[in-house]
Amino acid sequence: MVRADPHQPFLQMQGIVKVFPGARALDGVDLEILPGEVHCLLGQNGAGKSTLIKVLAGAHQPTEGQILLDGEPINISDPVAALRHGVATMYQELDVVDGLTVAENVYLGHELSTMGFSQRREAVRSTREILKRLGHSEISPSKEVGNLSAAGKQIVSMARALSHDARVIVMDEPSAVLDSEEVGNLFRVVKELTAAGVAVVYISHRLEEIREIGDRITVLKDGRTVAQNLPVSETPTVKLITLMTGRSVEYVFPDATELPDGAPVVLDVAGLSLRGTFADVSMQVRAGEIVGLAGLVGSGRSEILETVYGARRATAGRVEVDGRRLRVGSVASAVDAGIGLAPEERKSQGLLLDEPVYRNVTLSTFSRFAKGGFLDERAERRAAKEQADSLELRPTGVDRPIRTLSGGNQQKAMLARWLVHGCRVLLLDEPTRGVDVGARAEIYALIRRLADEGAAVVVVSSEIPEVLGLADRVLVISEGRVVHEGPTASIDEHQVLDMVMEGSVA
Ligand SMILES: Nc1ncnc2c1ncn2[C@@H]1O[C@H](COP(=O)(O)OP(=O)(O)OP(=O)(O)O)[C@@H](O)[C@H]1O
Ligand SMILES: [Mg+2]
Repeated sequence: MVRADPHQPFLQMQGIVKVFPGARALDGVDLEILPGEVHCLLGQNGAGKSTLIKVLAGAHQPTEGQILLDGEPINISDPVAALRHGVATMYQELDVVDGLTVAENVYLGHELSTMGFSQRREAVRSTREILKRLGHSEISPSKEVGNLSAAGKQIVSMARALSHDARVIVMDEPSAVLDSEEVGNLFRVVKELTAAGVAVVYISHRLEEIREIGDRITVLKDGRTVAQNLPVSETPTVKLITLMTGRSVEYVFPDATELPDGAPVVLDVAGLSLRGTFADVSMQVRAGEIVGLAGLVGSGRSEILETVYGARRATAGRVEVDGRRLRVGSVASAVDAGIGLAPEERKSQGLLLDEPVYRNVTLSTFSRFAKGGFLDERAERRAAKEQADSLELRPTGVDRPIRTLSGGNQQKAMLARWLVHGCRVLLLDEPTRGVDVGARAEIYALIRRLADEGAAVVVVSSEIPEVLGLADRVLVISEGRVVHEGPTASIDEHQVLDMVMEGSVA
């Protein structure tokens, strides 16, 4: 049931403190939610956003503070209690179960184990309905979730949140794994929900999204509320950035460096194909050059990088580095030639959760730190520390287990792994996903510096402004084909968007 008065907060969090061993993640946070609003929660990586919403979701117990629902203090002892109070949550780390079907995942919180046959059939039916509402009739409720892409998993997580008759739906960086079309679908659903009086708490590092969908903003910094209930329409972006970072970071891209005429081609890809996924992709990337691949999720962008890297076996075409041809489908051959790939799903692809941060950063370069069979841990730690500092990793120490870092800081640590490497060819899939505005600028500058030092860089990003701002040249990919190639200076966001969408509706 939704309360009528849209001006009275129905949900309040007051003075929330959360202490972990060795970290005071929340240090007195206030939050107030109105019915039918989109309330944006902003803050840098590690500010405490996810911790706060886990307290609201019953996944963490607060050390201090209280939560009021309709003015009455409530105790959210566990996730089931949160749902009973009308709080549904989509977590930042997708918490879907790979071995279960889509419908089973959606109805996980509904005690499926006690469901009879007819209830299961009902679960499948209503899952199908919710997926349709989300614009995803093509996802079958009986499909195993492990077979879905990250975006697909996010959609399942969204369907689950919608399956509860919630008064507030919390979304922790839902757009991080979605492309612009998916984000459009998400926003359409958010508008339907809020029109029906449901509140949405929305977390994102993309400030353009906040402008588009948000009503009010609460800003966290170092575990405290530093600004509350700011109307989106009256709050300039510079003010938000200053509140979040304590300084006025410019959200800018580094200047492109003019390529010297004789800059050699380092990466040469010709007619590369992967049957059923992409076909006839050719590109030449010179030393010092950054090439961007723009396209929707599912257009084949990531697969192109993975095939260049040899992790997928090309069905046609060739890859050369410095004029030497690589063995088809051989990662070893790619690595020998100096290719590095920072994959899209960095977390699932190689994060050692219980190992310290420095070990995670230096993993791919292990051999460099081994002297006569012994690991030189000090050198290893020093290299990691240097890279972590340049990416503004928080907290700054590199000895704690990586599991205890915030989502965005884990991403930064994984990116640091590839930047320590010193590659000839750097393939970066969504390098700034989940990373806050301050650190983004650092990452862009770092990528440009690596190019200036002679690397050939290929970047995939769902954010078209990022591709255009960072890269020298862009390849637009639609349905597995290159539909445009040219300098980023001579094309704008809308033109790219048109090309990207054209193929997808055909
Ligand atoms: N289980 C834990 N043990 C120790 N410290 C933790 C734990 N979980 C979170 N922290 C710390 O609490 C702080 C807040 O983390 P949180 O995940 O809430 O940040 P966030 O605002 O969601 O950041 P991001 O934008 O990167 O997702 C960070 O300093 C983090 O390292
Ligand atoms: Mg988080």
